[in-house]
Amino acid sequence: MLIRVEIPIDAPGIDALLRRSFGGEGEARLVHDLREDGMLTLGVVATDDEGQVIGYAAFSPVAVDGEERQWVGMAPVAVDENYRGQGIARQLVYEGLDSLNEFGYAAVVTLGEPELYGRLGFERAALYDLRCRWPDTENAFQVHRLADEAFDGVSGLVEYHEHFNRL
Ligand SMILES: CC(C)(COP(=O)(O)OP(=O)(O)OC[C@H]1O[C@@H](n2cnc3c(N)ncnc32)[C@H](O)[C@@H]1OP(=O)(O)O)[C@@H](O)C(=O)NCCC(=O)NCCS
Repeated sequence: MLIRVEIPIDAPGIDALLRRSFGGEGEARLVHDLREDGMLTLGVVATDDEGQVIGYAAFSPVAVDGEERQWVGMAPVAVDENYRGQGIARQLVYEGLDSLNEFGYAAVVTLGEPELYGRLGFERAALYDLRCRWPDTENAFQVHRLADEAFDGVSGLVEYHEHFNRL
């Protein structure tokens, strides 16, 4: 198994993984559209020994309170059913966070299981007065600080790219 940054040849494998992981085409189409529009900040893949994509995490820019602040949203995250429970999601997320940190990004937000992402170092975004536009997400919307000063004077609505509104 290999964890690495996405390259163009991975696109069909990522598409297929997202379709079977989420049982529909929404997430696959989202990643396709973000990539087409140059809005995929980073994609991290896990591949098996044959080079097939078995895991994926995507990162794209978000605005905070209407401003670009070098923050990104992590979504979607998926691991092939046959490979779950082996720490692959953890490795994908950590690889993504490490790379974004090196590139100088300030923070990463995500929407999902607090139990899962809490184990990966995310905290409730509401603790920092940060929210997203989807209702009843106070516990599910989470943030991971990369830069020490990321939260200084920053709060309010975190907005993903408009492609997320079609999910
Ligand atoms: C969610 C998903 C990505 C997890 O992948 P995975 O490779 O099995 O996760 P990992 O093995 O790296 O687990 C990391 C940690 O989170 C925990 N965890 C994994 N899935 C979890 C879940 N659904 N709920 C709560 N905790 C979870 C694990 O126990 C592990 O913690 P530990 O190391 O302290 O034991 C995978 O189940 C999946 O693709 N699901 C379908 C798509 C999906 O729902 N994506 C998430 C959208 S928010």
